[in-house]
Amino acid sequence: MSSVIEVANVSKAFGPKVVLKNVNIQVEQGESLVIMGGSGTGKTVLLRIIMGLLTPDSGHVTIDGKTIQGLSIPELFEVRKQIGMCFQMAALFDSMSVFENVGFALKRHTKMTKKEIALRVDECLAMVGLKGSDKLKPAELSGGMKRRVGFARAIALKPKILLFDEPTTGLDPVMTDVIGRIILDLKHELGVTSITITHDLKSAFMIADRVALIFQGECLAIERPEAFKLNPNPVIQQFLRGDADGPFLQDPPPPKRTPQEANV
Ligand SMILES: Nc1ncnc2c1ncn2[C@@H]1O[C@H](COP(=O)(O)OP(=O)(O)OP(=O)(O)O)[C@@H](O)[C@H]1O
Ligand SMILES: [Mg+2]
Repeated sequence: MSSVIEVANVSKAFGPKVVLKNVNIQVEQGESLVIMGGSGTGKTVLLRIIMGLLTPDSGHVTIDGKTIQGLSIPELFEVRKQIGMCFQMAALFDSMSVFENVGFALKRHTKMTKKEIALRVDECLAMVGLKGSDKLKPAELSGGMKRRVGFARAIALKPKILLFDEPTTGLDPVMTDVIGRIILDLKHELGVTSITITHDLKSAFMIADRVALIFQGECLAIERPEAFKLNPNPVIQQFLRGDADGPFLQDPPPPKRTPQEANV
């Protein structure tokens, strides 16, 4: 069986800055892949390449057997309809209500009636635990609620694929857990194939069928959580420990101060 998402030998540089080097990733039907990596290592760039919003310098991406590089704009839109993207900072339309935000794509891309749209928006808000919040404006929502509205919007068109870019960054641990559970529910209820980018180890291991780590533009490992935790690669082990010392940081931290120095 072919993969739903295939990233094949993808490389991308911006001027002299090489961001992705020969990245290979395959995600199978119904699988939840979590991608981790330090800030600025190209995780968002990779998601944008998968969506066809950025073109790689070499390599290609296949969605459901269709290579997206080289598709015409209308063909690319057809492929994108199958993908729900939750951007790094919710990216809601501030002037629109929650209802309008979630129903936006339905109004734009389908022939659904007002009543059908209202039902679907209700359904999506219920799935993320926000039933009854449809009249609120983004400014009236907490960070966690905004993320959940972003999820509801992403699932409105019943996509086969969901891409989450740091869905929990900036949220408290309880809301992080709530978001993790919603991602799991979406996986079980909708059977979607997903890629989630997160720095949060707890939610990563909660939602991942497989985990990948991007380091210096390369995909260091892509394996099941149990194997990932035991991977002897020092970069992976440092990332898991959350320790400043080790090969993970390109600019090493200042040396630790002795107690005498610290008291000066
Ligand atoms: N359109 C662009 N033009 C030029 N450089 C870019 C562009 N998009 C991204 N970059 C650069 O590519 C690198 C990777 O960016 P990216 O946003 O993918 O990082 P990230 O891994 O998502 O980081 P974070 O965890 O902080 O979100 C950064 O150095 C960034 O400045
Ligand atoms: Mg990013």
